[in-house]
Amino acid sequence: MLPADSAPAPADHYHAVRATTLSLIGDLAPEDTVVQTMPDVSPAKWHLAHVTWFFERFVLEPHLENYTRLNDDYHFLFNSYYHTAGQMHARPKRGLLSRPTLSDILDYRSHVDAAMLQLLQTRGDDGTILQLTALGLNHEQQHQELLLTDIKHVFSCNPLEPAASTSLVEPPTVAVPAYSFSDGDRGIHKLGATDDGFFFDNETPRHDALLHEHRIGDRLVTNGEFREFIDDGGYATSELWLSDGWAVVNERGWQRPLYWDEACASEFTLGGRRDIVDSAPVCHLSYYEADAFARWAGARLPTEFEWEAAANKETVTGNLLGSNYWHPAASDASQFFGDVWEWTSSSYAPYPGFKPLAGSLGEYNGKFMCNQMTVRGGSCVTADDHVRASYRSFFYPDARWQFLGFRLARDSHE
Ligand SMILES: [Fe+2]
Repeated sequence: MLPADSAPAPADHYHAVRATTLSLIGDLAPEDTVVQTMPDVSPAKWHLAHVTWFFERFVLEPHLENYTRLNDDYHFLFNSYYHTAGQMHARPKRGLLSRPTLSDILDYRSHVDAAMLQLLQTRGDDGTILQLTALGLNHEQQHQELLLTDIKHVFSCNPLEPAASTSLVEPPTVAVPAYSFSDGDRGIHKLGATDDGFFFDNETPRHDALLHEHRIGDRLVTNGEFREFIDDGGYATSELWLSDGWAVVNERGWQRPLYWDEACASEFTLGGRRDIVDSAPVCHLSYYEADAFARWAGARLPTEFEWEAAANKETVTGNLLGSNYWHPAASDASQFFGDVWEWTSSSYAPYPGFKPLAGSLGEYNGKFMCNQMTVRGGSCVTADDHVRASYRSFFYPDARWQFLGFRLARDSHE
């Protein structure tokens, strides 16, 4: 994980990440933070508490002598899925928790912050504490993104269609070049995390991957291109779809990306309803829709290894949280980082020789390596210092509420 000697001023870093989380709810009312619109969505208030519980349970309780919990019930309410750490409140019922109040949760954050700062100030040279704190902060950054994607769903269900923030900047409208492909690397390549900074266990071990001859898209697929697929009857053409995808599309009546209106003219955003910008990356699509589009376009999705080999040549920069768009932006750049998480054709599986973290934290990633697809590159609501070429996230193929989009790839002979 993070070598002790490369950790930047731990107490300052801790404070900065925690402050960023609170800045995300600056324009929310307490009532906004309670609502849960579907089982995948957690209330903003729950996110604020759960990331705090993570520090309490995995850093403070094992390492700060005489640490006392603010409230024993929080251990049950804010444990997410760590069965080895104890029982937990049912995920689909998180929206029923009007108590503890937002104010109670903010007090809980302060209680844990004071203890964490005490720990970091007195034992900030302890490698184990630094590694666990780095994991807790990266975990909190993951929940910063989830908080925003979840509140987007919550507000999309409200006829008033509120904006999550009143200070967002609308991305500039930029013309993008025609879709093109570049030759990808071929042969055996070392992929996965390097020892350079923080990484999650699912990015390890670094290992050999075989890349076949291929070409990879030079940018993300846009709204305008996806509209062509819709207009061409893409959603009604069974031969374009995986069997599971065809079943889901018909069961749920999907005819366009999530958040688009029926006329495919406007979309709901974290800044409220806006006109769809044709040159901006298409977003809020399932794996099934990305895969069907790729087939329609005579292409395919890249494997996560093709993606990573290409991304390794790019600078880790893009439309991330700090851009203050909180929405994908049209760009003439390669867009490997930020804007939208990119579906790959790779199942989320362990790398050869993968070993989860020891103890309860082994439940963080490894147990989800079944029936999900790997996504890469971060999104417009991913913290700027939270993404890298080896970073792997994962979603079920029918998920749409995250900022999910795609680029194309092709076999070289096509
Ligand atoms: Fe979590």
